Amino acid sequence: MTDSSPRFLSDYSPSDFNISHVNLTVTLDDKNTQVVSELLVTKANESLCDLVLNGEHVKLISITLENQALSAQQYEINDTHLTLPSSLFSKTQGEFKVVIVTEVNPEENTALEGLFKSGEAFCTQCEAEGFRRITYYLDRPDVMATFTTKVIANKVNYPYLLANGNKIDSGDLAEGMHFVTWYDPFPKPCYLFALVAGNFDLLTDSFTTSSGREVNLEIFVDQGNLHKAEHAMTSLKKSMAWDEQVYGLEYDLDIYMIVAVDFFNMGAMENKGLNVFNSKYVLADSDCATDSDYFNIEAVIAHEYFHNWTGNRVTCRDWFQLSLKEGLTVFRDQQFSADMHSSAVTRIQNVRLLRAQQFAEDAGPMAHPIRPTKVLEMNNFYTLTVYEKGAEVIRMLHTLIGAENFRKGMDLYFKRYDGMAVTCDDFIDAMSSASAKDLSQFKLWYSQFGTPQINVSEVYDTLTKTYQLTLSQQSPVTKSQLDPKALHIPIKLELLLPDSEGKMASKSHMLELTEQEQTFTFNDVTTKPITALLADFSAPVKLTFEQDEQSLYTIINHAQNSFCRWDAGQQLLISYIKRLTIDNDFVLPQALINSIDTLLTSKNEHAFIAEQLQLPSFDEVAGLIDKVSPQRLVEAIKKLSIFIAKGAQENLLRTYQYCQEQGRLGNNVGTRSLKNICLQYLSLLTTSQSLAQKQYDLANNGLVQNENMTDSLAALTCAAKINAESLTNQLSHFENKWQDTTLVMDKWFAINASVETETIFEHLDQLMEHPLFTLKNPNRARSLIGAFAMNNPKYFHCPTGRGYEFLAAQIAKLNTINPQVASRLITPLIQFKSFEASHQILMKEQLVKLHNLPELSNDLKEKLDAALA
Ligand code: PHE
Ligand code: ZN
Repeated sequence: MTDSSPRFLSDYSPSDFNISHVNLTVTLDDKNTQVVSELLVTKANESLCDLVLNGEHVKLISITLENQALSAQQYEINDTHLTLPSSLFSKTQGEFKVVIVTEVNPEENTALEGLFKSGEAFCTQCEAEGFRRITYYLDRPDVMATFTTKVIANKVNYPYLLANGNKIDSGDLAEGMHFVTWYDPFPKPCYLFALVAGNFDLLTDSFTTSSGREVNLEIFVDQGNLHKAEHAMTSLKKSMAWDEQVYGLEYDLDIYMIVAVDFFNMGAMENKGLNVFNSKYVLADSDCATDSDYFNIEAVIAHEYFHNWTGNRVTCRDWFQLSLKEGLTVFRDQQFSADMHSSAVTRIQNVRLLRAQQFAEDAGPMAHPIRPTKVLEMNNFYTLTVYEKGAEVIRMLHTLIGAENFRKGMDLYFKRYDGMAVTCDDFIDAMSSASAKDLSQFKLWYSQFGTPQINVSEVYDTLTKTYQLTLSQQSPVTKSQLDPKALHIPIKLELLLPDSEGKMASKSHMLELTEQEQTFTFNDVTTKPITALLADFSAPVKLTFEQDEQSLYTIINHAQNSFCRWDAGQQLLISYIKRLTIDNDFVLPQALINSIDTLLTSKNEHAFIAEQLQLPSFDEVAGLIDKVSPQRLVEAIKKLSIFIAKGAQENLLRTYQYCQEQGRLGNNVGTRSLKNICLQYLSLLTTSQSLAQKQYDLANNGLVQNENMTDSLAALTCAAKINAESLTNQLSHFENKWQDTTLVMDKWFAINASVETETIFEHLDQLMEHPLFTLKNPNRARSLIGAFAMNNPKYFHCPTGRGYEFLAAQIAKLNTINPQVASRLITPLIQFKSFEASHQILMKEQLVKLHNLPELSNDLKEKLDAALA
């Protein structure tokens, strides 16, 4: 049904036609929604061209050109396009009108692209190429038009009829129908189009912009959930204020609407004036949401809001430029979160995600530059690379030119390109002009893929008191990247040296690595320094720097930069895990316990200590060991955890109890995370196993006023990890309590899927039969299948291959239900290269099976072709 040949960045050419205005009339019906689209079209050049419109899964009813009905002989139509031959408008001068009437079936749309039903509501998702599932159109981001949208539906079932822009008309119609008409004055690509109809509860508020304009803020949620929208509203107002303060950017329409829906493929969507959100990123109260839910809601609300400028006002010329809006907007939302919370902890969490998942993507078969060059299914490129690495690239730019120049660059970017569809190069050019910095080499970050490897060596000369640091860089060499060039890489670092009184002092530097290999000399260095590299994680690279344990401990204790202190700890832990995977007799050092004890008694911020105590994840370490045995890796991490738990038991317990008391005194997120990481360790010991059960009971006994989901879930997670005796009872208690709360039941399914038990496969089969389980809801599908593959490495990587088989079987079903969800879930299977041969064979076996599926979607085909190549 869709195009089955890839598209290339190098093939870009501007559209032969422009559309200045679209007049849509949509009459909603579950099975037969009628769409009348009136297009005002002009030729964009002198040559004679066919007008080729995109359209998929739509039924054409009629077309007229300049009010003349066209007969079927006058146009061509197939599964993907409607072509009006050039002869039809060889005589037209200036603007001409095309009216297209189509029908679509929202109820059957389980792919959730285009117009679909989420529960009782109608809603749309058009990015990247969903508008073509609503009507025939020039579905490409560089075709920008103003839209008038008239929505018609039954008034009782759909009291709210929403679309982009401002409401300009409304009224009642015959037979219980009514209509609302919206006009969006900002020309936009159709991927930013949205339409929603439903019966919601509405939370309203307002925001006065810095120039004094009043904006109505409206959040629409399922009935009964009004109080759960408060946090989202607060977050929205914070985001609006922040963008004014930090970037001088104001909102531009009179109304900003957010709708929360339960059926959504992604997190949220920045449609102009009408964001559609996965309800997971809107709904929260202290009963049903965890601290990280609160954090994520704020971040996603901010992200979508920030898109209004970086994405909507200035958009992408073509989809290869996706990181233009996504990398930049992720960078902006990271800055915002860092300003709202602990910047150190926020940064650490960004880096954890990047290292565990983006590095794996970069090392796997779907590796691509942040600006891809070849795409079969665009939905496959909403990746950690485009988003997270894209944000790292923007951050490096910020580091290289400085905050002030960066702001100047942003101002210039909007001055030059407001209202336009542009490229990543245009963005960098604006930054370069504003900062007077040559960024030509920096642009290579957009075209080269893979995580650069940086090797470091050092020489200290006692006689001349000079310290030399030699850095060499290498990006991966592959068939599609034969000769990667040296990148422009900012390396922030600290030199740690004892001062005249013998106390450790530190000095910060920033180096610009631009050559394949480069030596940097520091003069007047009194003794050999200890070097803490990559402060703030100044570049998305892998570092090889042989530092002994003593140096790492010095960094942990004395570096100024909190990221460096945390990272040195991680390097140490990683080295222990690596040793344990190859050497059964390796004895972990007492020094580790001493430093954990020091940590636990330090005066640092609780959230930061919690991060320091958190071991590197399975995924992160897997990416650092060649052909690792997953079972050995699971065991190694467990061994290390138990060693720490035993050795630091007393302090862990003391900290746990202290935090438990503190936590109840106020809403202290950091204290809770410290408490819960202590619980993670303690529950591994038979002597303190019961703590998790106690914590669960305490959180649920109704005595604590804010019944705390963070604490309940942490307790269940610990119990699941050790498959505690109490787990079954707690899980059924939880299920009874929350069966009517969709988002909480997602958590319940996820915990169930992560239980470390021999019987997990029988258990998974039962869960698939649970009355509340459905593959049609992406959150639900991910909560069971995704959680198993991501959070239960021991059984996902079961040596019999049963875990892989389970995943593949679900993907096969999802291939026809929802290809996008199928394609996201396949990630852990295609990243087989990091595992030992026996596992690779088992994983590939499943991939081959999937490759043979009849009616394989483009989404899966693109990934399977790459994985099996
Ligand atoms: N553009 C959305 C965002 O990053 C993500 C998205 C992509 C949502 C495609 C839906 C479909 O905010
Ligand atoms: Zn985005």
